[in-house]
Amino acid sequence: MEQSFAGPAILVEGLTKSFGDVHALRGIDLSVPRGTVLGVLGPNGAGKTTAVRILTTLLRPDGGRALVEGHDVVREASAVRRSIGLAGQSAAIQIELTGRENLEIIGRLYHLGRAASKARATELLEQFDLTEAADRAAKTFSGGMQRRLDLAASLVGQPQVLFLDEPTTGLDPRSRLGMWEVIRSLVAGGTTLLLTTQYLDEADELADEIVVIDHGEVIAAGTSTELKGRVGGDVLEFTVPDRPRVGDAVAAVTKLAEGEPHIDEGTGVVSVPVGVNGSDALIQSVRSLDEAGIETSGLGLRRPSLDDVFLALTGHAAEEEDADTGGKRRRGRRKGQPEAEKAGRASS
Ligand SMILES: Nc1ncnc2c1ncn2[C@@H]1O[C@H](COP(=O)(O)OP(=O)(O)OP(=O)(O)O)[C@@H](O)[C@H]1O
Ligand SMILES: [Mg+2]
Repeated sequence: MEQSFAGPAILVEGLTKSFGDVHALRGIDLSVPRGTVLGVLGPNGAGKTTAVRILTTLLRPDGGRALVEGHDVVREASAVRRSIGLAGQSAAIQIELTGRENLEIIGRLYHLGRAASKARATELLEQFDLTEAADRAAKTFSGGMQRRLDLAASLVGQPQVLFLDEPTTGLDPRSRLGMWEVIRSLVAGGTTLLLTTQYLDEADELADEIVVIDHGEVIAAGTSTELKGRVGGDVLEFTVPDRPRVGDAVAAVTKLAEGEPHIDEGTGVVSVPVGVNGSDALIQSVRSLDEAGIETSGLGLRRPSLDDVFLALTGHAAEEEDADTGGKRRRGRRKGQPEAEKAGRASS
């Protein structure tokens, strides 16, 4: 492994990319020190995958520059490919092959030789808790197992810089925790990681620094504590079953609000940032709503979510009319990826 380069593992300056009249990236800047984790947080269509594809040499930028381990992703693409691993948003494993075969083939693509490829496959299967299933076709694996195999595949070449594009979207809570565990151990081993996610809690758990992107722009950057600080504490949340009374309910709790209350028109859920004295606000809200004669369900406090951070940062929720597509952007949905992405594991 080449370790002579002293700058950041990833450096991005003024990166732009458009698809027709869709401005997927409008000039983003990033800097990721070696051995740290950057969480790139943003809703559907924010530009996360576009950024990852450029950084992993699968897509050419229109403008700006990006360096990985000091190598320019356009002019020195093969040097970049030698230092990176990618687990894309859709698994790149071949489902007809067994877990072991998938990993051994990648080892051969890296010219590891037969014996070394077998040894590396065995080691990774062990590390990712796939030893028992190793000799079954990958199509018989659960979603979580396929993601783990895909992550294992991205590590065959022992990359210095790893890119994970929404590694836990679509996984059940238990598989998600398992994936976090695996990612933590990789990072403890010194790998630099750029991770995209739609979930604040995931960025919170794993990232040293977070950048929030929306409509192809970095709208905030900092640690998770700093970002949550912009929301300013807890969020009071409740539903008003009698929909016409939602406005009265918001009025009843307005004096407790330390930020803009938000009403989800679809579900009727009201979210109110209430600052650091959340439990006082909870008690007072029960009293105020009761005095106003408003029935609520699901009244409680929760930690700020991505939506709250978004609301605090942009004044609009993460799920809004999308100017670029005229459609609704929704969080938590897994979209199909272009075919090129499936075929295009950067490291093969
Ligand atoms: N190959 C393409 N052709 C046309 N438009 C594209 C292409 N790839 C991405 N886009 C558009 O660029 C924008 C950014 O997409 P991108 O896939 O980078 O978002 P994302 O943040 O990864 O979203 P998600 O969370 O849904 O994966 C979207 O408006 C998307 O429709
Ligand atoms: Mg994406």
